[in-house]
Amino acid sequence: MHVAAVVVAGGRGERFGGPKQFAPLDGATVSAHSVRVARSVAQLVVLVVPDSYAGDGEGADLVVTGGVTRSESVRAGLGAMEEVDIVVVHDAARPWASRTLFESVVAAVEAGADAAVPGLSITDTVKRVSVEGAVTVVRATEARDELVTVQTPQAFRYTALVRAHGAGGRATDDAALVERLGGRVVVVPGDEANVKITRPEDLRAAHRAGGVV
Ligand code: C5P
Repeated sequence: MHVAAVVVAGGRGERFGGPKQFAPLDGATVSAHSVRVARSVAQLVVLVVPDSYAGDGEGADLVVTGGVTRSESVRAGLGAMEEVDIVVVHDAARPWASRTLFESVVAAVEAGADAAVPGLSITDTVKRVSVEGAVTVVRATEARDELVTVQTPQAFRYTALVRAHGAGGRATDDAALVERLGGRVVVVPGDEANVKITRPEDLRAAHRAGGVV
């Protein structure tokens, strides 16, 4: 099957204090690691960057400018490619995603799902809360055995993803847009090591642990 990848690196890294996805990591950049692992399943890798980007493409085949939201950035990446069978969308900020994880989401779509996402079970108790002025109040306790946290890479049947993005829309991941149209999204085992770099301490912790891809 023909597989393409969209690696989204178009964020401004507000919580990080700058574009975290281009920070140095183990002799390359965070994004270059993400592009390299995406290439293990994809014949074409599109990197989506902020308009301020002045780098060399991080090893991607195509580089396009993203949008204000993550969903717009994914659409920019999708718009740069020809029709393929499967598209894998990956956050550049997850440089430690494994080749095995990419292969397992692609395999789940090859087996018939509209989309596949890596999920991790929850060990902490999860509460629904609301903020009342300066106080946060618990509204309910969720059934954690029915919940997973979800990572990227996420794989999609090309037509399902294009249709899901066709009406615009905004979500924190692409699977949510496919779910809204009634698509079948399956969960494959996620990987605890596949951390998303969000704050400077995430990178510092990796350097301390000798964390390399
Ligand atoms: O903000 P968040 O950490 O969820 O971003 C996840 C990924 O989406 C990051 O790799 C970020 O660079 C990318 N992104 C993007 N365009 C945006 C916002 C985020 O490509 N407008």
